[in-house]
Amino acid sequence: MAEAKLPKSLVLVDHPLILHKLSLMRDKTTPSAVFRQLLREISLLLAYEVTRDLPMTTQKIETPLTEMDAPILKGKKLVIVSILRAGNGLLEGMLDLLPSARIGHIGLYRDPVTLKPVEYYFKVPSDIGERPVIVVDPMLATGNSTAYAIQKLKDAGAKDVRLVCLLSAPEGIRRVAEDHPDVPIYTAAVDSHLNDHGYIVPGLGDAGDRMFGTK
Ligand code: URA
Repeated sequence: MAEAKLPKSLVLVDHPLILHKLSLMRDKTTPSAVFRQLLREISLLLAYEVTRDLPMTTQKIETPLTEMDAPILKGKKLVIVSILRAGNGLLEGMLDLLPSARIGHIGLYRDPVTLKPVEYYFKVPSDIGERPVIVVDPMLATGNSTAYAIQKLKDAGAKDVRLVCLLSAPEGIRRVAEDHPDVPIYTAAVDSHLNDHGYIVPGLGDAGDRMFGTK
């Protein structure tokens, strides 16, 4: 994707460690256990980046030497929303870094013919509007289901929504940026295009299948 065409809401997190691990994930000979472990490691690094601008406050504490106003995170704990089922792979690593986060789940699958999202599950914290929300979905392909999920979260009251995708297609980025220009998209790589079945090329295949060994 040409640099000039990237929407302002896109944040490319192309750290060498992430790109190296991503290349290992792309390799079709990488077994599921290794694939899951790599995704967990990358999600930790993506979590670091997506939380960079969280609001801070201070709290008086005593170190062994003296009192100080120590910086701490401000406000309610954030929510991580996993788009099932592949989102759970990113969720695991994020929770390593953010163990107190609340967790939401949205169950969607792509209709194989229309490629449109079909919802089968939705459960998020009732006070989601008072918390920063990180939506996790490894593959931003057509963007249909991701844009749909973000709209559902906004309908439930979410105001501060950030999206984390491991790998993105230009089509998906455009779709989410058009529907939700207020939502920053954090991704490690923008691939070439989608094939006729809606798979990202070169991509890494079906993230859920690679993760859970279902194919
Ligand atoms: N979902 C996947 O798991 N892989 C793709 O390439 C596209 C959507």
